Amino acid sequence: MGLKEDLKTLKEEAKRSLEKAETLETLNEIRVSFLGKKGKLKNILKSLGKLSPEERKEIGQLANSIKDEIEKILREKTELIKKQLLENQLKEKKIDITLPPAWIESGSSHPVISTLIEISEIFISMGFSVAEGPEIEEEKYNFDMLNIPPDHPARDMQDTFFLNNGKILRTHTSPVQIRTMLKNKPPIAIIAPGRVYRKDADPTHSPMFHQIEGLLVDRNVTFRDLKGILKIFLESIFGKNVKIRFRPSYFPFTEPSAEVDIGCTVCGGSGCRVCKDTGWLEILGCGMVDIQVFKDVGIDPEEYTGFAFGLGIERIAMLKYRITDIRLLFTGDMRFNRQFKGIR
Ligand code: DAH
Repeated sequence: MGLKEDLKTLKEEAKRSLEKAETLETLNEIRVSFLGKKGKLKNILKSLGKLSPEERKEIGQLANSIKDEIEKILREKTELIKKQLLENQLKEKKIDITLPPAWIESGSSHPVISTLIEISEIFISMGFSVAEGPEIEEEKYNFDMLNIPPDHPARDMQDTFFLNNGKILRTHTSPVQIRTMLKNKPPIAIIAPGRVYRKDADPTHSPMFHQIEGLLVDRNVTFRDLKGILKIFLESIFGKNVKIRFRPSYFPFTEPSAEVDIGCTVCGGSGCRVCKDTGWLEILGCGMVDIQVFKDVGIDPEEYTGFAFGLGIERIAMLKYRITDIRLLFTGDMRFNRQFKGIR
C-alpha cells in the first residue's frame, strides 16, 4: 500500500542524505526537510485521516519508528562531525608550551594623581582632613565670599567659564574654604584637592587643572604656624635641602598674603630656562585668612585666626618629574604615561 512505501522511501532517502552530510549545517537542513513542521514526514502523514483505525495505528507506529531512527542517526552523525571538528582544530592549533606567556600590561596611577595623593598624605599626617566641593560652583562662593569684588580681573569672562544656569566652573579650590567654614565651627584643619577650570591654554597652562587648598582656623594661629607647616610640606616633597623663600603678595581673601618660592630644582639656583634665570620657582600662594572672610562666614575674628594656602598640582608634578609641557599630562598618550609606572 502507498503510504507504507512512501515512508520506506522517505527513510532510505533520509539515510542517504545523512550519510553524505559533512557539516552541522547540512544536518540541520536535513532535519528540517524530513522531520520539520512542513517536512516530508508530516506531508506523508497528511492523508492518515482517510485510513481505518487499524491502518492508522499501524502506519502511525511505522512513522514513529522511522522518525526515531532518523533522529538517532542525526544524533550520531552530529557527534561524529563535532568530534572531527575538534580534532581538526587541535591539529591546526598546536600549542607550543615552550613559548613565553603573552605580555599583559598592568595599570598605574597618573603622575597628577600620584602627586595629588602624595601631597594629601603629607597634610593628612599632620592632622588635616580632606574636604570636597562642587566643580560647578556659585559665584557667591567662588568670588564674593572670598572678598573678590565684582570688578576684580579674576572675574573676567576671559578667565572664567560661565554656564547657562548662572553658575560657573570653579576657577580655584578656595570656595571649599567658604563651604567648610559655613558648615563647621573652628578648630578647622582641612585640605581640598580637586579640579579647577580657567580659559587658558599654553605649554604651562591647561583649561582644566588640579589644585590643593589648605585651611587652618583656631585660636592663636599665626603666620609662624603657616611657615612651619609649609616648610614641612615642601621638604617632604622636594627634599630636606630645598631652599624656601616667602615673598609678600596680594590675595583678596588673605591679609597679609605671600607667595612661596623654592630654589630652582632644575639648575639649583644658578639660573636656567625653567626659572627664567631667577634661580627661584613660584610654588604656592598663602596668607592669613582675611577678617572680611571670617565675618562673611560668621566666625568671630576677635576670637579666631587662621591661615590658608593654595597650589597647583600639575606644577608640582612637572617640577618633580621634569615635565616641560603641561599638555603632555592630558593627552592620554601611553608612551608618556608608561614612563611613570611604579613611581608610587
Ligand atoms: N586661589 C588662589 C589661586 O587660585 C591660590 C591661593 C592663594 C589660595 C592664597 C589660598 C591663598 O588659599 O591663601 O591662585
